Amino acid sequence: MECLKNVKKCGLDKKINVVYQDALEVNLSNVEYDLIFIDAAKGQYTKYFEKFKYFLTKDGTIITDNLKFHGHVGKSSKIESSNLRNLVKKIEGYIDFLQENKDFDTKFYDVGDGLSVSVRHNDDKDE
Ligand SMILES: C[S@@+](CC[C@H](N)C(=O)[O-])C[C@H]1O[C@@H](n2cnc3c(N)ncnc32)[C@H](O)[C@@H]1O
Repeated sequence: MECLKNVKKCGLDKKINVVYQDALEVNLSNVEYDLIFIDAAKGQYTKYFEKFKYFLTKDGTIITDNLKFHGHVGKSSKIESSNLRNLVKKIEGYIDFLQENKDFDTKFYDVGDGLSVSVRHNDDKDE
């Protein structure tokens, strides 16, 4: 598998556990991550976020890629192809979801194809 080959090439196979499963079906237990990177099926972003936030440390970060989707995001109503329009609408919905999400502070970056960095509020730090 290509991914595992790259992990081995970098000498990280003792540190990285590659899981070959559908992200929305995999059962994870007793794992916590400081950083989660969302870059799979663009139409499923909200579902990935909602599922994997439970595997994030208290003040962990979720990064999401492709939020400009090749310049289409923000212009969905003008897209003729219904498949592309629906996909772009889902990404726009995800951006709204991040902006309204009070548990995370999200910043958007105009780099590459558009990135968001969502840092979870850690209430323990306020005490
Ligand atoms: C844009 S690529 C990710 C590239 C990766 N971040 C990198 O830098 O190499 C999207 C990947 O998500 C995978 N993918 C799509 N839907 C998925 C799902 N439901 N569960 C797990 N992986 C999925 C695809 O097979 C594809 O390899």
